[in-house]
Amino acid sequence: MMIWLPLHFFTIAILTSGLKLTMADTLNYDKFVYSEFNDPERDQLLYGHFPDNFTWAVATASYQVEGAWNEDGKGLSIWDTFTHQPNHIYKNHNGDVACDSYHKIAEDIDILKDLGVTHYRFSLSWPRILPDGTVDNINNAGIDYYNRLIDALIAANIQPMVTLYHWDLPQSLQDIGGWSNDILAVYFNLYAELCFEKFGDRVKTWITLNEPYIAARMGHEMGVHAPGLRHQGTTIYRVGHTMLKAHAKAWHSYNTIYRPDQKGSIGITLVGFWGEPASDSDEDRAAADRYVQFMLGWFAHPIFIGDYPDVMKEQILKKSRAQGLTSSRLPSFTEEEINLIRGTSDFIGLNYYTTQLVRHAETETLPVGFLEDQDQVAWYNESWPKTGVPWLRPVPWGFRKIMNWIKMNYDNPPIIITENGVAEFSDGKEQLLNDTWRIQYITSHVNEMLKAHHKDGVDVRGYTAWSLTDSFEWTAGYAYRFGLYYMNADDPIRKRIPKASVDSFSEIIRNNGFLLPYEQEIKMGAMGTFGKWIQSFSQVFRKG
Ligand code: BGC
Repeated sequence: MMIWLPLHFFTIAILTSGLKLTMADTLNYDKFVYSEFNDPERDQLLYGHFPDNFTWAVATASYQVEGAWNEDGKGLSIWDTFTHQPNHIYKNHNGDVACDSYHKIAEDIDILKDLGVTHYRFSLSWPRILPDGTVDNINNAGIDYYNRLIDALIAANIQPMVTLYHWDLPQSLQDIGGWSNDILAVYFNLYAELCFEKFGDRVKTWITLNEPYIAARMGHEMGVHAPGLRHQGTTIYRVGHTMLKAHAKAWHSYNTIYRPDQKGSIGITLVGFWGEPASDSDEDRAAADRYVQFMLGWFAHPIFIGDYPDVMKEQILKKSRAQGLTSSRLPSFTEEEINLIRGTSDFIGLNYYTTQLVRHAETETLPVGFLEDQDQVAWYNESWPKTGVPWLRPVPWGFRKIMNWIKMNYDNPPIIITENGVAEFSDGKEQLLNDTWRIQYITSHVNEMLKAHHKDGVDVRGYTAWSLTDSFEWTAGYAYRFGLYYMNADDPIRKRIPKASVDSFSEIIRNNGFLLPYEQEIKMGAMGTFGKWIQSFSQVFRKG
């Protein structure tokens, strides 16, 4: 059961962060309001709770937080190489020390406890465990570090949610071609098996790869992420192809060898922005669907249905032929590979940040490129609020739409939101702790997730905020600050300082959603007779 309440609106300009947001005033929560859309539900806060075993998490990734880039036997990763070359990263920042999480397990556990999360999503650094990428040479100090972290989490009653690969490939594997070399699927599987063996007694939620889309596109098409390649329209697809096989092999290893004893679950994390058709025309609707298929479907379709989405196969073949090639630039799977990959995710890990408007736009035959393969253009509606990150406009209703798209296209798989968050832009000297707009962002997105769960029947099982602390934000160095906790990379002790959003996120976690109005009354000590009476039925209400 859920209750919709009419809200009373006011507009506030948040001058300190440079953001101007339209927000609503409620008993406890403020939120974004998109008044330009005539959809009453979209502008209302839904009160209610998630199921009792809902996962509440916060995330980081090894290269972004660990530091200790060359300590205790760790091998080089492609991100060490990339950041140590000039002019790739904002102000030539790097992750050499980052948040120093390698030496600050206790500090991180303290703030995780503070937040009250049930899970902590972090990633393992492949070259910290296997300095040359292969199991021929195991770095025990790396294994010890993750054992200490996992043990400390469990002692604090926080479950580890572990990503095996969040982009920091061992450099030695890049030296043999990286993900464009098929053999990487074999090496990844051996690395994964070692991790299951060493940590699987305590880790019950595994994620194979984080956002293969971004790794393939930014690292091999646009050249702005490691390894910095700009092989447009070609390597990107080969990289994706190997990653899918790598993921599937690791899933099968877990499923057949480790799951019977360890009894955990294993999935993949995919980024899925929503593509909203710019008009009602069939052409724009098809273009918006292509946008989602080329981003999310590229990986989700082979896993949840089998093989690449038809529209990808058709588009890339059509373009390849027009360019004078005899076969498609998109590699094809054998029947055996299709079967190997199909059905290999116990859940879909979804990273959602934003939405774009999309319209159909036929491209020229040349240049060759991933975007050109799609025959669409995408942009942000200027009226959507701005944030510190140009590509990130908060559009909470898009979150609900992408979850529904997943439900419809893949037969309602379990979804764990593995990332969702927003950043300010700052050199960090000024402590920007009053992040009202992050409160709005998280609150409104969690609320859209509640609507997806309660009203649309989406099987969403968990929510992960990105990120625990301000950290090394790839090309943007330390300037995009996604943390719930402020961290200054120039501060030798890298103190973690809570921003205002910590309290509000913890409150959502404590309430497992949004208190119903009578629950708010009780909490505020203003419980009348009616409140007391209705309290006895709270279990009924809480079922949602
Ligand atoms: C990545 C994170 C990154 C975040 C914000 C996601 O694509 O998984 O590593 O920090 O976006 O840019």
